[in-house]
Amino acid sequence: MKTSTLLLGLAASTSANIMFTHVPLSCNQTGMQMYHGCLRGQWCTENGDCVPVQEIKYSMSFRSADPELDVRDGPEFSTDGTCGPAHSNTICDPNSKVNTAGAEIPQIIAELVVFLGAQVLTPIPAQLLAQMAGVEQASVMQNVIQQALTEAVALHMDHCLPSNGCQSGCTGAVVPTSPTSPRSDGRCGKNFGGATCAANGPYGGCCSGYGHVAEIGSGNGGTTTSQEPVIGTVSATMPPESTATAAVTTDGTCGAGNGNTVCGNWPNGNCCSMYGFCGNTAAHCGAGCQSGNCLSAPVIAAPGPSPAPLAPNGGRFIVVGQSGVPAMHAGLMPNGRVFFLDKLENYTQLKTSDGYYAMSSEYDPATNNVVPLAYSTNAFCSGGTFLADGRVISVGGNAPLTWLDPNIGDGFTAIRYLGRSSSDASLNGQSWSEPGNKLASARWYATAQTMPDGTIFVASGSLNGLNPTVLANNNPTYEILSPGAVTRGNNVPLDILVKNQPYYMYPFIHLLSDGTLFIFVSKASQVFNVGSNTIVKELPDLPGDYRTYPNTGGSVLLPLSSKNNWTPDIIICGGGAYQDTTSPTDPSCGRIQPLKANAAWEMDSMPEGRGMVEGTLLPDGTVLWLNGGNRGAQGFGLMGRPTMEALLYNPAKALGQRFTTLASSTIPRLYHSVALLLLDGTVMVAGSNPVEMPKLQTDAQDPYVTEFRVEQYIPPYLQGELANQRPTNIAIPNKTIQPNGGQFVVSFNVHPNAQGCTVVLYHGGFVTHSVHMGHRMLELDFAGWVAGGTTQTLSVTAPPNHHVAPPGPYVVYVVVDGVPGIGQFVQVA
Ligand SMILES: *[C@@H]1O[C@H](CO)[C@@H](O)[C@H](O)[C@H]1NC(C)=O
Ligand SMILES: *[C@@H]1O[C@H](CO)[C@@H](O)[C@H](O)[C@H]1NC(C)=O
Ligand SMILES: *[C@@H]1O[C@H](CO)[C@@H](O)[C@H](O)[C@H]1NC(C)=O
Repeated sequence: MKTSTLLLGLAASTSANIMFTHVPLSCNQTGMQMYHGCLRGQWCTENGDCVPVQEIKYSMSFRSADPELDVRDGPEFSTDGTCGPAHSNTICDPNSKVNTAGAEIPQIIAELVVFLGAQVLTPIPAQLLAQMAGVEQASVMQNVIQQALTEAVALHMDHCLPSNGCQSGCTGAVVPTSPTSPRSDGRCGKNFGGATCAANGPYGGCCSGYGHVAEIGSGNGGTTTSQEPVIGTVSATMPPESTATAAVTTDGTCGAGNGNTVCGNWPNGNCCSMYGFCGNTAAHCGAGCQSGNCLSAPVIAAPGPSPAPLAPNGGRFIVVGQSGVPAMHAGLMPNGRVFFLDKLENYTQLKTSDGYYAMSSEYDPATNNVVPLAYSTNAFCSGGTFLADGRVISVGGNAPLTWLDPNIGDGFTAIRYLGRSSSDASLNGQSWSEPGNKLASARWYATAQTMPDGTIFVASGSLNGLNPTVLANNNPTYEILSPGAVTRGNNVPLDILVKNQPYYMYPFIHLLSDGTLFIFVSKASQVFNVGSNTIVKELPDLPGDYRTYPNTGGSVLLPLSSKNNWTPDIIICGGGAYQDTTSPTDPSCGRIQPLKANAAWEMDSMPEGRGMVEGTLLPDGTVLWLNGGNRGAQGFGLMGRPTMEALLYNPAKALGQRFTTLASSTIPRLYHSVALLLLDGTVMVAGSNPVEMPKLQTDAQDPYVTEFRVEQYIPPYLQGELANQRPTNIAIPNKTIQPNGGQFVVSFNVHPNAQGCTVVLYHGGFVTHSVHMGHRMLELDFAGWVAGGTTQTLSVTAPPNHHVAPPGPYVVYVVVDGVPGIGQFVQVA
């Protein structure tokens, strides 16, 4: 194992304001009103060709304030800049920033900054605005530009402070560097050959501690670390198939954005994907394939929506409290409370003792009280898992935003710990601790999984938050942490991540019953042996759209039991086509038993397409699917049409009869929301913060804003009279379970008519971005049930090994005739 060479030139920072875009092979003018098949900024001609729109001036008008025109109720965003009654009642996409020249507004702002010499001018003279390439809606533009300019100047000043690590051109004491010429991409400083910033350059003369010329957010590497990772625009004028005379790739990139190279005999495959990577998966050879053995249609079409009849009893949602901070990450801790963990924000509901806003909180579902938790480094889009000793860790994150909180540092390599115990209440409310051990490399959007030996597998992530279609920005590797979360120090390239860029972040990972891992990104999956660093087998591509970031659906390892010989069975639902408000979402689900010979996807579908839908196991062995939206993608302001009804999936039923529709919430839960099972068998639903900084009121620009309300979803099994039939007084005298197939005792009381029960061992995992890291549930064997007895004392068989139950905290639920009692925390040793 050797350190990946990709990690040379490591730099921290953030994303560029450019889009992940889908390039279908053809379009249909008379087809779906909005998704006609072309890129945003293109027009579908009568011949079915996508051509760039030339005529559009600014389409930066905003969504109507008229509720009749609210996107939830039908009207579609314009995809070509036309709108209104004459154009199918489309309304203008607030994210669309296409102007005559195809330039984006931030570039225009950049020009403004040059023009103004980065002075703060309030307001921008109307005359100047009018000069800016034919701006038609000067008053609207003025506000937008003024706000961006103010932020730009604030950033610029921030970059220049030596106390923020300014490397050159700084305010006050100038840090000497061996100056080299400024780079054209705005990068600078020690990680970029000592490059300085041109004093009169477009972004100002200061090189930040993160290696950026002070700049304002677009194109070549922003500094606003509160942004999301977005993928570079696919060329809108993509040539037809590259010709045989085209040069052959030397690094696995190809196509229009990469010198028109073709893949030739590149080992990953000869299809050049729409994003410019060589490979042979459905994502490379399917829609948008630029050259090579492209398929003109998907090999197997994914099923469309299928009805899910109303469940006789749909459960209900109740608002019970406030999360205190936006609920980007969450988990149930062994004290029965839930941690919420967020990125750096300019507002939350709580403050820490130093007077700054809290970015994390601890919520007690018993009282619905929430208290602030402090942390030391920005946990923006981190991964996480529970350690064998019961603590939870959050790994990776993003750069500091010192103007929001000077005490919170760089989180790109962070390892944060939170320890709670059911027997030690003195730990409640204690801050995240960061003793100083770090990941071996920067990881933003990593997934973590605790292994059978207690070590932690940490995979994927962005090195810097920049465009993932550029290889040098990506970290398609894994590293292993000790059971105490100290890294071994090696970053090992992980084939499936390497091959599936740019869709390689936040992979779905499940530990299988032979100790191997199921790893899924994009549309591809494999069984991977961590110990030997080998691929055990490649699984077939999952039909349908992309399933991982920025079009994440949900993935659940279905309940394991001795009855099925602990055979892992995995279901993945939802997804989407590309990173934009206009992306269709996928209603289909695939289910696979990855360890079976000739493992294949069995396809099923939800009643509608859903992105960011997340699956949570319930103690009765069903799966609850919640949250997300029907149109759009992950990223700020990119998802619309919230899907508020819960779905129930019963894996034991026949194909076609597994989904039923449950109650609906009234609260949109879009980007940065969570769902998880609580000790009492209800499900906590929280979050939604699809904006760059918290916003409490919707407006024309942001119809979906920050949601602090916490809901409790009461599943059908606790509705009405059933709630009185729960088993009570559940006692587990020995809370340490050795996974060696031995016995442990569980006693409880039941009503005299009880027919039977199941005993489950449950781990909710670390929840973020509709990914439930480490989530698993086992149905355990037992003996000793006495028919008609109101006191039951069962001898329960512990899991056979650490492959089916890796060490860590679990909850035991006793489920009598389908109704769970209050869960009891135990520790699998
Ligand atoms: C275009 O879409 C319409 C309406 O959905 C459909 O009837 C027609 O067959 C489609 N044409 C092509 C060429 O796909
Ligand atoms: C946070 O930032 C947003 C967007 O930049 C701004 O509109 C808002 O006023 C800020 N809130 C606070 C409390 O500073
Ligand atoms: C509890 O169970 C564990 C695992 O089987 C065992 O090692 C330990 O001795 C037990 N403790 C008590 C107090 O019985």
